[in-house]
Amino acid sequence: MEGDGVASGDMCGIIGVTGVDEAFSFLVEGLRQLEYRGYDSAGVALVADGDLWLAREADGNHSVEELALLETGSRVVGSGVSGSRTGENSGASSGASSGASSGAGDVSIPPPRHCEAGIGHTRWATHGRPTVENAHPHVDCSGRLALVHNGIIENHAELAARLDANGHEIASETDSEVLVHVIEEELRRSESLLEAVRRALEDVRGSFAIAVVSSAEPGVIVAARRVSPLIFGVDERSAVLASDIPALLGTTRNLFALEDDQIVELRPGVAHVSGLDGSKVDPVPLTITWDLDAARKDGFDDFMTKEIHEQPRAVAETLLDRHGPGGSLVLDELRLTREELRLVDKVFIVACGSSYHAALVAKYAIEHWTRVPVEVDIASEFRYRDPVLDQRTLAIGVSQSGETVDTLQAMREAKRWGARVIAVSNVVDSSMTREADGVLYTRAGPEICVASTKTYLAQVAALEVLALALAEFRQTLDHGVIERLVGNLNELPAAIEECIDREKEVFEVADRILGARDFFYLGRNVGYPAAMEGALKLKELSYLRAEAYPAGELKHGPIALIEPGTVVVGIATRNRLREKMLANVAEVRSRGATVVLVANDGERDVEDVADHVLWVPEVEPLLSPVVNAVPLQLFAYRMARELGYDVDRPRNLAKTVTVE
Ligand code: M6R
Repeated sequence: MEGDGVASGDMCGIIGVTGVDEAFSFLVEGLRQLEYRGYDSAGVALVADGDLWLAREADGNHSVEELALLETGSRVVGSGVSGSRTGENSGASSGASSGASSGAGDVSIPPPRHCEAGIGHTRWATHGRPTVENAHPHVDCSGRLALVHNGIIENHAELAARLDANGHEIASETDSEVLVHVIEEELRRSESLLEAVRRALEDVRGSFAIAVVSSAEPGVIVAARRVSPLIFGVDERSAVLASDIPALLGTTRNLFALEDDQIVELRPGVAHVSGLDGSKVDPVPLTITWDLDAARKDGFDDFMTKEIHEQPRAVAETLLDRHGPGGSLVLDELRLTREELRLVDKVFIVACGSSYHAALVAKYAIEHWTRVPVEVDIASEFRYRDPVLDQRTLAIGVSQSGETVDTLQAMREAKRWGARVIAVSNVVDSSMTREADGVLYTRAGPEICVASTKTYLAQVAALEVLALALAEFRQTLDHGVIERLVGNLNELPAAIEECIDREKEVFEVADRILGARDFFYLGRNVGYPAAMEGALKLKELSYLRAEAYPAGELKHGPIALIEPGTVVVGIATRNRLREKMLANVAEVRSRGATVVLVANDGERDVEDVADHVLWVPEVEPLLSPVVNAVPLQLFAYRMARELGYDVDRPRNLAKTVTVE
């Protein structure tokens, strides 16, 4: 274990299956769908003929593909780790890409064709290095148990000390491995794997989604959850589980969410759910609105391009049917009365990353249209300060995945303060949507590329609808004005389409700037969060330094950094601060910066202060971030591709961040 006592929990994807013949290919395919949750190592454990078969890879972006190759027989590097094979040699393999066992013997054999049950894992390391030894599944000392884990075991050091004293050999640097050894101990006094896992979890502090198989109970998978997400499904002959929906699309539509502190025993065709305290539980069915095709690339080079092209539809669907009887605005599952919303005297929005930028845009709209004060907080900060909110506060959690742990915990914190909580999410039945008082879905479909594109646009659109609904309930805008603004919102998909059609022009500008290392993104009013989002796209995709500032703030310090070679990207579309914005841009240009401006069609005066212009159609100023984001996404995309980077899976990042 790590000597510094720092938890080495992972953010990862889990998959499991029992009752299918080709379990190995099923698991590998599921891991492919889960790679957006992490991809620095991957592994599979199968229970076959009373034995456990294990293979793990730690090959960065290619870990799952390396695993898949095992199936073809072109590389045969599995490990038998129990029964007759145990003891042929000992200790963990140190090979960078070979199968490895934890304290048990290894024999290289191909993946068994027939097996009773299997679990798989794709990992994104937070502390323990991305090595084969740290890859999941982890195996106990007997070589009979294998476990996959997503989350952080906070008391892993304490548990490891106890296990060490009892003679267990812990082979990895992870916090996760202790769990499989604690279960091994509990099995000695338990009747079943289910009972042993339940007892083991009594000693555990932290967050987890786990799945465990045992060669002593072939065909059984035991899985449990606290904070980290887990879903499962059953059909007549099999049962499946995964961290998230894309991995199970095309299996069964009979899917369920495991809730916090629940445990499930899966056997072919049967799922038995109970509370960790032994209480009886009726599982909650999940509504699946996606099909498998939606989760594929549709012929585009990469998911990012596909998702950029899906933006008009993502926004249109998010805006669809928002008018109820009598013309009033409709949110999806608003379990809040109009009266409660009318009485709101403060709004708090919590989010991370791009979702945070969408929230910042919403602040301008809500304050302008409703006159209710809005605070926007980065979720991880909100949780650990003393925010002031009460029963009249409306707290909004914005999250594409609905699983980001910082946002989820911030929403729980807001609830504790008595606030009414709304989730704005892209995932039906995600943790946030299940826990919130009200839900507004972004209906953008699955987003696989790690960088948010269509979900960010859909979030801004959804939040603007929410802002207008609040204005309607609080009667701060005339009905006619709301109607006009709803009309303006409905014009956005066509404007986004136009921006996508201009992809080539954006690429030409990017090509002329290739080689620059320092970027500043400037904006005013809603142009400021739009600039922040543009800078984030460039940073995460192209690994270039890009900082966003409110344009008026530059002269208070950062302008000292401007020199020839610096690129300044400015949002100069029409709003009441446009003249001031152009004056700020002139200041940086006179200091040698290369200036790229996002500007409205026909506004030729911007060419006086810009080296390059990214033209966009004009829309209502408060809605403009939805349109202005598109050329900035395309710009960042082109820079990244030309620099030779993988746009779908940027280094060091994972799509869904389920650890703090
Ligand atoms: O699923 P969420 O919206 O809660 O995720 C929040 C951030 O992790 C996410 O927006 C992240 O910043 C993206 N990589 C941005 O492209």
